[in-house]
Amino acid sequence: MTTEQQPRVQWLGRWGFVLAATGSAVGLGNIWKFPYMTGEYGGGAFVLVYLVCILAVGVPVMMTEIAFGRRGRGSPIDAVRRVVTESGRSSAWSILGWMAMLCGFMILSFYVVVAGWSFSYLWKMLSGGLNGSGVDDMVAIFVANNENPFNLGFWSTLVTLATMLIVGKGVQAGIEKSVSWMMPGMVVMLLILIGYGVFSGGFGEAWRFLFSFKTGSLSSEGMLAALGHAFFTLSLASGAILTYGSYLPVRSSIARTTFGVAIADTLVALMAGLAIFPVIFANGMSPEGGPGLLFMSLPLAFQAMPLGTLFGILFFVMLSMAALTSSISMVEATVSWLVDNKGITRRTAAWGTGIVLWLVSTLAMLSFNLGADWTLAGRHFFDWLDYLTSRWMMPLGGLGMVLLAGFVLKSESFREELGLAPYWHALWLFMVRYVSPLGILVIFVDALGIARLEFGVHWPWLLAVLAVITLIGELLSPRLRRTLAS
Ligand code: PHE
Repeated sequence: MTTEQQPRVQWLGRWGFVLAATGSAVGLGNIWKFPYMTGEYGGGAFVLVYLVCILAVGVPVMMTEIAFGRRGRGSPIDAVRRVVTESGRSSAWSILGWMAMLCGFMILSFYVVVAGWSFSYLWKMLSGGLNGSGVDDMVAIFVANNENPFNLGFWSTLVTLATMLIVGKGVQAGIEKSVSWMMPGMVVMLLILIGYGVFSGGFGEAWRFLFSFKTGSLSSEGMLAALGHAFFTLSLASGAILTYGSYLPVRSSIARTTFGVAIADTLVALMAGLAIFPVIFANGMSPEGGPGLLFMSLPLAFQAMPLGTLFGILFFVMLSMAALTSSISMVEATVSWLVDNKGITRRTAAWGTGIVLWLVSTLAMLSFNLGADWTLAGRHFFDWLDYLTSRWMMPLGGLGMVLLAGFVLKSESFREELGLAPYWHALWLFMVRYVSPLGILVIFVDALGIARLEFGVHWPWLLAVLAVITLIGELLSPRLRRTLAS
C-alpha cells in the first residue's frame, strides 16, 4: 500500500517538530563551520551579512519549505509534485525535490567525515590520546588522525551506522525519541561550556572580532559564502526541513516554529564563536585556521584549563550529538521517498541508503589521505561536495521554491498552510517574491563576476533596485505568473 492511501505519520509530542528541526539545524555548521568561516572571511562583516541572509532569505525559505512539506505530506519529490499539481501546474517542478534530495545526500557524504573527527576526538579525550604541549603538537595529531584511511574510515563508518540505526527505527521511535534527549542534553552542555568560556581570557577580543564591522568591505567570495552558509545552517533546500515539515500536525504554526528554530540556530552559532575564539586568541593562534580550526585549537585549551579533560569530553560529546541530530535529518528525505515509492520497509530503505552513503563518503574521506592528489580544478572530492551544495544547489533550490510559492502556485494553498494574519502574509509574500530572490541573485551575479558589488557601499542601490523590481513585479504579477508557469 502506498502512503497515498495511508495518513502520514506525525510527530508525537508537542515539541517533536521543533526539537527535530532544531536538531537538524544546529550541527557542525554552527560549531565547526561558522567559526572557521568567520575567521577566514575576516570577522564582523561576515557575521553581519550572515545575519541579514538568515532573516531576509533563510526565514522566508524555511517557512515556504515547511508549508510545501505539510501540504504535500511526503518526501520532497512527492510533496512538491502534489502541491504543484494541486495548483494545476506541471509536475516537472518536482525536479526541485530531486535536487533537494540529492543535495541532502551529498552533504551527508562529507558531513559524516567531519562528524567522524568529532567522534575520534571524543575517543582521544577519553583515552588520553591528546597529549601535547603546543600548537605544533595539535597540528601533528590532527594530520596523523587524517593520514590513516582505516582510522578515519572507521570513525565515519561509525557515524553512518549510528545515523542509519536511528533513521531505520522510524520517525517517532527513532528520530523523535533520540532528539528528545539529545537536544536538551546538548543545550545543558553548551551552557556549561559558555559559562566556562566567559571566565577564561580572550573573551573581549573574541567579542570584538565577531561583532565589530570595521573590517571594511567583504569580498564577493565572503558574501556568497555567507548566503550559502545561511542555507546550510538552517538545513534548507536539502530535503531535511521539508520532510520534517511533512510530519507536522496541522495545528502547529509554521511561522512560530520557523522563528524558534532560526533563533535557536543563530544563538548557538554565535555562542560557539564566543566559546572558540577566546581560546584561539589566548593561544596566539590565527583565526584563519580553516576546517581544522576547531580540532587543533580547542584540545590545546582544554589541556591548559583546570578540569580540562572533563570539559573536553563534554564538548566532544556535545559536538557528536549535534552532528547526529543533523545527519539523521539529511537522509530522512531519501528514506521516506524509498518507503513511499518502492514498497520497501523503512529498515531496508535506511540500510540500503547507508551502503550507498558509505561508498560515497569513503571517497570523500580519502581526500585526506590516499586521494590527497586527486583534485579537480584545485578542489578535492570532499571540497567539491561542500562547494557544490552550499554555493550552488541550496541557493538555486531555495530560489526555485520561493519563486514557485510567490508567483506560480495558487496563493490560497500557502494562505491556508501558513495561516497568517493578512499583513503578516503580505510581508511573507513580499519576502518570497522580491527580497529573497533578489538577495540570492545579487550574490550569484557577484560571484559569477558579472558585476562587482562592494558590501557597505552599494546597499542604497540595492534598495532602489528592490523598490523598482517590486513595483514592476506587482504591476505585472498575473502575467508574470503565467510566463513563469509555462
Ligand atoms: N544544519 C546542519 C548544520 O548546521 C547541516 C545540515 C544541512 C543538516 C542540510 C541538514 C541538511 O550542521
